[in-house]
Amino acid sequence: MSEVEAKKKPIHDSIPEPVRSQGADPAYFSVWNMHSYYGESYIIHGISFDVREGEIVALLGRNGAGKTTTLRSIARMDDPQMHSGEIWLDHHPLHDDKSYGAAQNGIALVPEDRRIIAGLTVQENLELSQIEPPVGWSIERIYEHFPRLAERRNQMGTTLSGGEQQMLAVARALARDIKLLLLDEPYEGLAPVIVHEIASIVEGIKKQGITTIIVEQNAVAALKLADRALILDMGKLVYDGTAQEVLDNEDLRHEYLAI
Ligand SMILES: Nc1ncnc2c1ncn2[C@@H]1O[C@H](COP(=O)(O)OP(=O)(O)O)[C@@H](O)[C@H]1O
Ligand SMILES: [Mg+2]
Repeated sequence: MSEVEAKKKPIHDSIPEPVRSQGADPAYFSVWNMHSYYGESYIIHGISFDVREGEIVALLGRNGAGKTTTLRSIARMDDPQMHSGEIWLDHHPLHDDKSYGAAQNGIALVPEDRRIIAGLTVQENLELSQIEPPVGWSIERIYEHFPRLAERRNQMGTTLSGGEQQMLAVARALARDIKLLLLDEPYEGLAPVIVHEIASIVEGIKKQGITTIIVEQNAVAALKLADRALILDMGKLVYDGTAQEVLDNEDLRHEYLAI
């Protein structure tokens, strides 16, 4: 490494300031001063954070802290309404998009309830994702990363176990050409051995260059997987730092995660 590169490195490793739209060198993914409401209920109180390309970020906080609302705001769902703020992904603004536009621009939200389509096999669920461009991973590539789905390709999607349905929900996201994967409580209701399997899959797709934000009640499992952590409390961001620091900091965990 040259002397100049050596000097640059610490700056790169520190947590960057949230990037405004005017920023000359925006982060890969950036949320700036986001305020979201359900009707009159003011839920997200101006949060800002950056995510680097290829990172896994755990978005944590107690029940009702605003995690799902944050993911739904990023995915530009109609509900909640984002009254102000900016969202940028790979130099493209998403804040003026509707959910369809955000999806076309690379956002994939895997919701808590997984939404596997009834009456379709595993393979048909995957094929349906690829009906319209932009198409992502080929079905064969998906099966290489999800051997359980390959074994069950002809089985009805809704007859899979909970863990397998979660895998199918993630696989279906990858069947589209995505840049940012948003996982809402992927471990919910799953046995530890399956949690481990899903974590390995997320690590595997990170190696393929996918950037992920994972929301989890199982904070320890999410922190073990993640590079960085964000903690929300009553709609405000109270921590933005390394995942390891949260694992090591008992006070922080007690105060905001109740673990
Ligand atoms: N559809 C909705 N309408 C009104 N309030 C909602 C709705 N969904 C969630 N909320 C409220 O928004 C707050 C944050 O919820 P949510 O983002 O689901 O929290 P988390 O995912 O962190 O558990 C909670 O107070 C919740 O009651
Ligand atoms: Mg939630």
